Amino acid sequence: MKKNSIDALMRPKSIAVVGASATPGKIGYTVVKNLLESKFEGEIYPINPKDTEILGLPCFKSVLDVPGTIDAAVITVPAKFMSGVAEECGKKGVKGLIAIASGFSESGRKDLEDEMLEICGRYGVRVLGPNIVGTLSNSDNLNASFAPFLPKKGKAALISQSGALLIAIDASSFSRGVGFDKLISIGNMSDVDFAEIVDWLNDDPNTTCITLYIEGLKEGRRFLEAARRSTKPIIALKSGVSTHGAAAAASHTGSLAGAAKVYGAAFQQAGVIQASDLDNFFDRTLALSLQPGMQGDNLLIITNGGGVGVLATDAAEKFGLPLKFAPPDVQKELKTHMPEFGSAKNPVDLTGMAGNEWYGDSVRYAYAHPWVDGLVILYCETAITNPVEIAQSVEKAIRESGVTGKPISVSMVGGERCDAAIQWLVDHGIPAYGAPGLAVNVMAALREYDQMRKSLAEPIEACGPENRELAIQVIKKARKAGRNSLTEIEAKQVFAAYGMPVTKTELAKSEDEAVELAKSIGFPVVMKIVSPDILHKSDAGGVKVNIQDEAAVREAYQMILANAMDYKPEANVHGVAIQEMAPWGTEVILGSINDPTFGPTMMFGLGGIFVEVLKDVTFRVAPVASNQALHMLGEIRGAPILAGVRGEKPRDQEMLAETICRYSTMILDLDDEISESDANPVLVYEEGKGLKVVDARIILKKK
Ligand code: COA
Repeated sequence: MKKNSIDALMRPKSIAVVGASATPGKIGYTVVKNLLESKFEGEIYPINPKDTEILGLPCFKSVLDVPGTIDAAVITVPAKFMSGVAEECGKKGVKGLIAIASGFSESGRKDLEDEMLEICGRYGVRVLGPNIVGTLSNSDNLNASFAPFLPKKGKAALISQSGALLIAIDASSFSRGVGFDKLISIGNMSDVDFAEIVDWLNDDPNTTCITLYIEGLKEGRRFLEAARRSTKPIIALKSGVSTHGAAAAASHTGSLAGAAKVYGAAFQQAGVIQASDLDNFFDRTLALSLQPGMQGDNLLIITNGGGVGVLATDAAEKFGLPLKFAPPDVQKELKTHMPEFGSAKNPVDLTGMAGNEWYGDSVRYAYAHPWVDGLVILYCETAITNPVEIAQSVEKAIRESGVTGKPISVSMVGGERCDAAIQWLVDHGIPAYGAPGLAVNVMAALREYDQMRKSLAEPIEACGPENRELAIQVIKKARKAGRNSLTEIEAKQVFAAYGMPVTKTELAKSEDEAVELAKSIGFPVVMKIVSPDILHKSDAGGVKVNIQDEAAVREAYQMILANAMDYKPEANVHGVAIQEMAPWGTEVILGSINDPTFGPTMMFGLGGIFVEVLKDVTFRVAPVASNQALHMLGEIRGAPILAGVRGEKPRDQEMLAETICRYSTMILDLDDEISESDANPVLVYEEGKGLKVVDARIILKKK
């Protein structure tokens, strides 16, 4: 059966309330009352077998008795009645259920949810929820929920996985002055998920900014695709980022990955702006719903107070938008709108003498100047000025400049008069705040948004060879031997099958064979124990480096085997790996996990102490194109080491980015086989000289 679109859920023309009640205080009563109070213009059909009228509306025993068509049915009967109601709704041709009732998978009754879904699936009925507050839309005069009222009018839309938080945001929208057109409760996401609503909102003319409260996505990659498609800014407040996933990790990468890092990477790749907390969510929502992205790094701050100017300058650096001095022509012109002792550098300090005219003139000029990519206006309340008048002259200057597509934010520091001015600005489309740092923080979000959108538009470059057949052969052999991890030699064979440069490594099963292999590889060599039961080879005394001749090979061979026997007498030893000794280079680590939400995910960081102690690593959901991998290299704190510090030549970042790309191709291609992996260390040489994977580990998925 073809599924209905979610139009009927998002913008219903007629609504039934199944479980409508005549008893004030009950959810079934509140929903009908809310529909009436929000002045919903379509038909409202209360459904209750016991009543004939509810809140002045004729009441029907069943949806099957309703004379007209029903787009959506709000369900306020207990979970145990859900399947019966769903069957009737299906027969009636109801297009979607707004399933408020709780008591499904969230509380151990997945069976009830599955039953409802099966019935709805048969009839093509879509389900929002269950376990939701309902859905609200200002532009549709629709409060199909038990939230108290429609939110303050605005252009943001919220999709929330928490009903309680949705209600809190609804009420706070007035006190915070942040307007929403829609609030959509998504609950258990049994059918309609974030991705589908994001797509819908992207086409909704009443939404300029999509906001999300996420506890956990069900199908991460589906969401990422929808977010990438969105032409509107998306802001996510993600909770539950503390412990997830890290506990049972077998690889280095697995132990470093956590929900915060992986979600953060995924959001970045999909152009989703993150909010750090609820306050930041409101602040950023206000700015992104009212202002365009900031298309360059040149932020100009205009202030009437040195102190707030410095606070804003500090914030600009903290949030990644450090100030630059304004160019000479800008300084020269702005100097004419301030007293002698003012400063036109950046921040532009008009001084405490600044009134409506100086603010207006300098804003009008600066906003239109091509050097300025974004403008932050600061104002401290003085006795010689009226904050609302200052706000009005700023807004007028912006309007009169004739410039569009450039963001502005305002901070007004003071008392009630400033609060009124802030509200006035917001009502006129300019995001305004109390603290200067907030006005700068939102500008950083607008800059980040523009940068992420541009990087999404970059072409994805393909990379490397793929020899899945060879990799699968190696994996099959290990599985056949009852193993869930590959030996270093096997892991390197798999890496090499996807074009990663690995050190030449061969397995010696006897001392003589070790000598032969060392000769053919060329001295000096490295020798390592090969045993699926010894993962930490160095701890077992199983690694010898810089072996220069035949005698040393023989000695090392015996010592490695003896050490392994001491370390783990029961270990199954395959032999000793003889390995080309790669020259010294900068140590980096590459790795992968198979994230439960987003699937194959890459990690990159500098090796040694950087990864062990500082955990200086960064993540990306695969695939990662070479050009995107280059951004990863710049993200870690140790980035300057790769770029070349203190006279050192830059490392071969291009080859490193290419290798990350090939690695990501491998984990995606072998998604069904690989659970976690590390290439650690990878030695990176000077620009143009490439790199070598020196050690490799692959943990297989259990089958
Ligand atoms: N068709 C129509 N009406 C029906 C019905 C049916 N098949 N079966 C029962 N009803 C009526 C009941 O008679 C009752 O009407 P009444 O007030 O006239 O007696 C009404 O539906 C509601 O049923 P009731 O058993 O009284 O339930 P309730 O109102 O106490 O609770 C829910 C129902 C859905 C609100 C409750 O089960 C629930 O899930 N609450 C949690 C909601 C929630 O928090 N959601 C998530 C937010 S994040």
